[in-house]
Amino acid sequence: MSVTVRAAAKLNLHLGVGAPREDGFHPLDTVYQAISLYDDVTVSEAPAGSADELVVTGSSHVDAAGVPTDATNIALRALAEVACGSAHAVQIAKQVPVAGGMAGGSADGAAALLAHDRLHDLRQPDDLLLAQAARLGSDVPFSLVGGTARGRGRGEVVEPIVDHGTWWWVVVPAAVGLSTPEVYRHFDRLHPDAPAQPAEPTELLAALATGEPVRLARALHNDLQEPAIDLRPELGDLIERGEAEGALRGMVSGSGPTCVFLCDSQEGSTEVLTALSASYDVVLTAVGPVAGAHLLG
Ligand code: C5P
Repeated sequence: MSVTVRAAAKLNLHLGVGAPREDGFHPLDTVYQAISLYDDVTVSEAPAGSADELVVTGSSHVDAAGVPTDATNIALRALAEVACGSAHAVQIAKQVPVAGGMAGGSADGAAALLAHDRLHDLRQPDDLLLAQAARLGSDVPFSLVGGTARGRGRGEVVEPIVDHGTWWWVVVPAAVGLSTPEVYRHFDRLHPDAPAQPAEPTELLAALATGEPVRLARALHNDLQEPAIDLRPELGDLIERGEAEGALRGMVSGSGPTCVFLCDSQEGSTEVLTALSASYDVVLTAVGPVAGAHLLG
């Protein structure tokens, strides 16, 4: 028997970052949105006495070879946390860019936790799964919750937000990923006097409630955009280009290097995709918000 769980990519509509805490993590005040790019994680039991096994495949735009298949993989770390020594075979079919600032690894961790729960019919309460997720990584609880949600703490304290909007995005992944810790370290270099309290998403929440893309575009905010562009100046050119081609607003997704462009409609996103495809190898469209990690079968 096997169980397949689907988990979505995320972007941050607002990412406020404060000065590092004593544990080295940065306090965040963020608004996540899950969008329609997915990783599917299939988990089955492996014969007793065998080791965990992992196979990763990916869509043509995904660097599946760049994903570790040893015990450091977040899906295997998730199973090591919860499986009490029994072995599993795991397959990950990736659509979410690797090291792209879209929580692809976190999606795999969340999916593995849920798949393990359903495979063994544990039916653990949500708060237990969320606590397991928080131990795995800052974005993993959001990958379970999905939709649109505010994240505080180091990102792991997640509170769903009512979002009746349908938001159309163009997504441009980079061929080579960026290291999240490196982008945070660069934020610290650029902002040695960052406030302890991260910027609150007041404007963003007001814009979201209107359902109007033009309002939301104006309110998008990412404190990691400046360090990401400083490390990868070509991201600044890409954002300018997308906006010149008709996107309402372009921004770096999370710690990057994926860039996302908010468009006024589905048709608008198709036009921006067509225009950017002339110069960029991989250009995708996606819609949000979509569901958190859920069972496919
Ligand atoms: O929690 P996660 O494992 O995803 O974090 C990866 C790295 O990103 C951390 O080790 C840390 O360097 C950085 N990080 C941070 N502050 C956060 C989240 C992540 O500094 N709130």
